[in-house]
Amino acid sequence: MKKTVYVTRPVPGAAISMLEKEFHVEVNPEDRPLTREELKKNVRGKDGVLCMLSDVIDGELMDIAGPNCKIFANYAVGYNNVDVSAATKRGILITNTPGILDNATADLAWALLFAVSRRVVESDEFLRAGKFHGWAPTMFLGRDITGKTLGVVGAGRIGTNFAKKSKGFDMKVLYTDIRPNHEFERLTGGKYVSLEELLEQSDFVSLHVPLMEGTKHLIGAEELRRMKKTSILINTSRGPVVDEVALVRALRDGEIWGAGLDVFEKEPEMAEGLAELSNVVVVPHIASATIETREGMGEIAARNIIGVLTGDRPLTCVNPEAME
Ligand code: GLV
Ligand code: GLV
Repeated sequence: MKKTVYVTRPVPGAAISMLEKEFHVEVNPEDRPLTREELKKNVRGKDGVLCMLSDVIDGELMDIAGPNCKIFANYAVGYNNVDVSAATKRGILITNTPGILDNATADLAWALLFAVSRRVVESDEFLRAGKFHGWAPTMFLGRDITGKTLGVVGAGRIGTNFAKKSKGFDMKVLYTDIRPNHEFERLTGGKYVSLEELLEQSDFVSLHVPLMEGTKHLIGAEELRRMKKTSILINTSRGPVVDEVALVRALRDGEIWGAGLDVFEKEPEMAEGLAELSNVVVVPHIASATIETREGMGEIAARNIIGVLTGDRPLTCVNPEAME
């Protein structure tokens, strides 16, 4: 009998047709997240699930999926939505999509950095509103990028990719992580410092850590106070890495100069007051949202499922110990 795979939301590219060659595939027919109840109903009895970062995948759901379920393939690099130890206990493999989205995510961090420092969104709105009556020496003054100090928090694949791209802007690179990363230093010329030093010295601080116990509210009121009044915070990692209420206050009080955010603490909601601030650029969790990248992520997720359900190995497993 053909194995059955459930896909929690339509994804672009070849992923679904790749899966259909091997398995019986059911796809959420609607382009919206499933409710918890729908998710429970649809994973029941499936052999594998292709899931989104907006789906909460916990022990209860794994039990409902049942003993035949061997894999949850998360359509994301981050997997904080998945209870990995619950999966390991049940011998279920969890896979993610690392690597393929490094460029797209780093590029969006740069897009936000440029947009905030040169006030691109604010001035676009001004122009469209018919308020532009001619060049002016003091209109929309932003901040220089070239030659400034870039602070990279998290020296993994995405942080390294982001930092490497600063070369053309002659920036001094500082970075912090739980330990020094020599590959990061070789590729970027970056200097390893403490988080405190990084916050005090950087003109731009960009976050590239996964969300886990130790990174929740990594940037809170105290950290924001440490930053320069002229500095800009960029977050393309996960919302809860920043205390968003403290961030609104810091932006309002001029403790930092601006922020560019792709992710939010209580997604899809934003903290009260954030949307009213003109010194912040917000985009709706789109860092990996390029056609090439999203198609590639789907192929990796599909190959992971095909690998596991045909008795081969997955490409990108986050809990290989579950195979033992
Ligand atoms: C997106 O946020 C991802 O983790 O892939
Ligand atoms: C600006 O447009 C300039 O020419 O300096």
